[in-house]
Amino acid sequence: MHNVRKVTEDVYYVGASDRRLNLFENIYPIPNGISYNSYLVLDEKTVLLDTIDHSVSRQFLENVEYVLGERTLDYLIVNHMEPDHCATIGDIVLRYPDVTIVGNAKTFTMMKQFFGFDVDGHSKVIKEGETLNTGRHTFAFAMIPMVHWPECMVTYDAADKILFSADAFGTFGALNGNIFADEVDFEKEWLAEARRYLANIVGKYGTQVLGALKKAAALDIRMICPLHGPVWRENLGWFIEKYQTWANYTPEDHTVLILYASIYGNTENAVNALAGKLADAGERKIAMYDVSVTDPSYLLAEAFRCDRIVFACPTYNAGIFPKMETLLAELAAHNFQKRKIVIIENGTWAISSGKQMREILSSLKGMEIMESTLTVKSSLKDEQLPSLDEIVNFLTA
Ligand SMILES: Cc1cc2nc3c(=O)[nH]c(=O)nc-3n(C[C@H](O)[C@H](O)[C@H](O)COP(=O)(O)O)c2cc1C
Ligand SMILES: [Fe+2]
Ligand SMILES: [Fe+2]
Repeated sequence: MHNVRKVTEDVYYVGASDRRLNLFENIYPIPNGISYNSYLVLDEKTVLLDTIDHSVSRQFLENVEYVLGERTLDYLIVNHMEPDHCATIGDIVLRYPDVTIVGNAKTFTMMKQFFGFDVDGHSKVIKEGETLNTGRHTFAFAMIPMVHWPECMVTYDAADKILFSADAFGTFGALNGNIFADEVDFEKEWLAEARRYLANIVGKYGTQVLGALKKAAALDIRMICPLHGPVWRENLGWFIEKYQTWANYTPEDHTVLILYASIYGNTENAVNALAGKLADAGERKIAMYDVSVTDPSYLLAEAFRCDRIVFACPTYNAGIFPKMETLLAELAAHNFQKRKIVIIENGTWAISSGKQMREILSSLKGMEIMESTLTVKSSLKDEQLPSLDEIVNFLTA
């Protein structure tokens, strides 16, 4: 049975969702599943925008076949060559051998690497600014390199003012019948996953995301059709502004985030004491995570959200506790910036985790790191309570 929804009069959603996959890209947990979006346009010519992941190919091919009816597929526009979107291009070419594939030069270099079919025999190479007219619709193409791969582009339909945005404006999460953001409580049910998607998938490329947003700002966009998650047809400005905030590494909330590692509970005890004092000082909605318990992808997203971060960590084999080290490496790899930072270290004989954490954190741009590190020698002592007050003062100043 087909699972299709109309996006506009002649644009159809033909994608599908996977709720079985444990790890997206074999690294990110997706407890709410993931959708792979694809759109089919029935104009004088028929146009498919991107394909989907292998895992949902059966549903996808059935959807395409149903929407096409007696017609064949004339064009396939490929905005992104990552296999979560391009995996079924080969199947499409087999089923619709006369299809013309539209992409940029880099698209086809990658296509030849991934596939064995006669790519040149099907390709139409386009450049930035070129258009494809299919009857009522005219599609224009704009390159958005590194959002998320070098060949990435977006397609703008001037007729209905739709931006087919590739990985940009995507989110984790399966689509449960409601394919439009205005059909769900996006802020409550989806925003955290959209942030986690952005931070982890393209968070490293803030500058490139901003460049893409700048290009988009020049267009009159009424609808955004991303490759993952809901379609936007209302309140676009709100979501675009979120992207602007995240891509700029601007904190979203005035919230203290406490990220701690602890083997025997003493570091945890120290940050609990700090959290209590922060609450006494009027801080609300303090966020606190054990880095051994929560997957780093969630912690990275929380770091993108919060404006002040406390890192607390025991020394471990003369280094930083490995789970914390991984998280710090992730933050550095994602070009993380512009936060107020507090460092707390722990150790029993040769304490060095604070110094090593400081080295990593001070290599990041725009960090305001509290000068003194709080050193816990095995466990926090009463006489150290004034040090916690100093931390509270620094964070709330
Ligand atoms: C495998 C292992 C390696 C450790 N390596 C060091 C070390 O190199 N230097 C040090 O001062 N403490 C080291 N420690 C001790 C812990 O950092 C210390 O006991 C700390 O108080 C633990 O804090 P926690 O109660 O929050 O787990 C190590 C502990 C373990 C279990
Ligand atoms: Fe991608
Ligand atoms: Fe993707």
